[in-house]
Amino acid sequence: MTIKTATFNGVATIEIARPEKKNALTQSMYSAMAEALIAANVDNAVRAVLITGQPGCFTSGNDIEDFMQRPPTLGQDAEPSPVARFMHALLSCEKPVVAAVTGAAVGIGTTMLLHCDLVYVSDEARLAMPFVSLGLVPEYASSLLIPALLGHVKAAEKLMLGEPFSGSDAVDCGIANAVLPAGEVVNHARRMAERFNALPPSAVRETKRLMRAPQRAQVRQVMQAEGELFSQRLRSPEATEAFQAFFQKRKPDFSNF
Ligand code: COA
Repeated sequence: MTIKTATFNGVATIEIARPEKKNALTQSMYSAMAEALIAANVDNAVRAVLITGQPGCFTSGNDIEDFMQRPPTLGQDAEPSPVARFMHALLSCEKPVVAAVTGAAVGIGTTMLLHCDLVYVSDEARLAMPFVSLGLVPEYASSLLIPALLGHVKAAEKLMLGEPFSGSDAVDCGIANAVLPAGEVVNHARRMAERFNALPPSAVRETKRLMRAPQRAQVRQVMQAEGELFSQRLRSPEATEAFQAFFQKRKPDFSNF
């Protein structure tokens, strides 16, 4: 079981649990996360959702073997892929979503945080969006939302160079609320999620909707544009070289492209 779900005291927890592969997300894991979000959204016993990983690893992003064997189709009208279903389930979740990030948060591990409501990171967290290094382009509206948060030149370090950054950088950028010691981040995030138990749920939902509404159409439009390019690039020679290099544990060689 690589996605564990449990509802306790008003909080639906979605725990990514594939530590042997650094919590890399496969298609079945995206499907399980989408189902859990959809179920939490309609469950009256749930007041907030908590997304967590494992000690030392939130998620290393999309499973690179899946990228090679079963490249998802994004941004098109075809039957939505599991990753697209997950992305839309998180975007459509009307209840507050809290993330507890310990260790590595790579690719969608970072971009999904842009669609959560409260984000707590550990002092050893390492976030990164190395799409370009993989021959890919940004996804999940990160090409819109990261420059909006950071300005173009700071965003370029993270999206064009793919520079990793720390939990305290994430707080400075406005991606995360606070940095906590690694052993405390999940409990802290859970306590924050539980605070919604004492608040009127419709007012919370409407407030989230109002806060997201001005960017909603643009986010979906950018996701469509990114997704079409992302799907093409997954099948590109640059991406093939990057994926092969990852599994051969060597540096990719882009000198002939
Ligand atoms: N997809 C598939 N397998 C992955 C993976 C991924 N995204 N991330 C890690 N793994 C696997 C490794 O291949 C390795 O498998 P093995 O033990 O069979 O060789 C195992 O998980 C452990 O990974 P390793 O790289 O040895 O761990 P680390 O602690 O040295 O580094 C990371 C951790 C997350 C920094 C590193 O694994 C990494 O950069 N992963 C790829 C991230 C990425 O590019 N994701 C896609 C973003 S779009």
